[in-house]
Amino acid sequence: MEQLVNASVQGIQISGIRKISNLVATYKDALTLTIGQPDFPTPAHIIAAGKRALDENRTVYTPNAGMPELRRAAAAFVRTKYGQDYNPDTEVIVTAGASQALDITLRTILEPGSEVILPGPLYPGYEPIIRLCGGIPVYADTTGTGFKLTAELIRSKLTDKTRAVVLCYPSNPTGRVMDASELADIAALLQDRQLFVISDEIYSELVYDGLGHRSIATIGGMRDKTIVINGLSKSHAMTGWRIGFTFAPAYLTQHMVKVHQYNVTCATSISQYAAVEALTNGLDDAEPMKAEYVKRRDYMHGRLVAMGMPVEKPEGAIYLFPSIQAYGSSSMEFAMKLLEQERVAVVPGDAFSVHGEGYVRLSYAYSMDVLTQALDRLERFVSKV
Ligand SMILES: Cc1ncc(COP(=O)(O)O)c(C=O)c1O
Repeated sequence: MEQLVNASVQGIQISGIRKISNLVATYKDALTLTIGQPDFPTPAHIIAAGKRALDENRTVYTPNAGMPELRRAAAAFVRTKYGQDYNPDTEVIVTAGASQALDITLRTILEPGSEVILPGPLYPGYEPIIRLCGGIPVYADTTGTGFKLTAELIRSKLTDKTRAVVLCYPSNPTGRVMDASELADIAALLQDRQLFVISDEIYSELVYDGLGHRSIATIGGMRDKTIVINGLSKSHAMTGWRIGFTFAPAYLTQHMVKVHQYNVTCATSISQYAAVEALTNGLDDAEPMKAEYVKRRDYMHGRLVAMGMPVEKPEGAIYLFPSIQAYGSSSMEFAMKLLEQERVAVVPGDAFSVHGEGYVRLSYAYSMDVLTQALDRLERFVSKV
């Protein structure tokens, strides 16, 4: 009977990140740097709002696109923080995490045979959805441009089948961000073309060094073709609450909300009440986390450089993506040997497309104590190979 399972579903794989995390669970003494979720608790005022919603029996469906007050709070948040301008009544959808936001976006815009240009290496959440839609992922290799998707790279991949270009900055897995002029170059290339831009900004609150987050949707001509994806998983340490958002022009949102309705009806009501609190009284909840992440990033980056591992200094998110090319093994072999010999788990770069081969991803969403021990072990490991 298994041959009757939809061929596209048979063709997709469990993500490499989950595979390695599942494997690590069998090594009881391993230190793991694999997970991409904040190690901080959800701020107490948000938890209290969730509890209050339960006590007040707020346990029924909300409007499909999400509670109006949450859509208003989300639109106000991105306006204040990033200068994005969206009408909460017609241009915002509350989703079950950014993951579902990506799903409804891609399902709304792709046809079988549509090509989607993606920066590689990249978070593995896009490719399977594109394939389930019958679309074709087209990776642009960013390893020669400091992991940034440039206008030239996009131009080299554009065809008459290109339906969308994905930007994911700050990036998972590289932590790189795009500056205004880099985004302006891309906007100049794309603004008159018949295609969409999907801008995954889930790490927008985790940009360091005073740089500030820039969204391509705020550049002239781009708002009308851009779907911005965001959410509370990383900014407010709320991965398990499952709250994400799409911000997109009304002509698109009206179609996306249909896919969303038949997919989940609405995001969880309790989580939506908590999210209202997060986005009204917790505007700067990410700040203390950010301060801690910056310390960890600097420490990790310094240690990797001192061990002779080539690595870009990330300006955002919670990852470092050093090269392991000098050690003569594939990223999977490197990760497996590191786990077996030193009991440290990292994610092999090939989990982030073929362009991640030759790298590993280290998450620093862990305490300094764990990071210090893990880096001591990594140092011992690389000094032997
Ligand atoms: C780039 C990127 N997009 C989307 C997601 C999904 O986030 P959520 O927990 O909101 O579904 C993640 C999660 O790690 C991510 O790294």
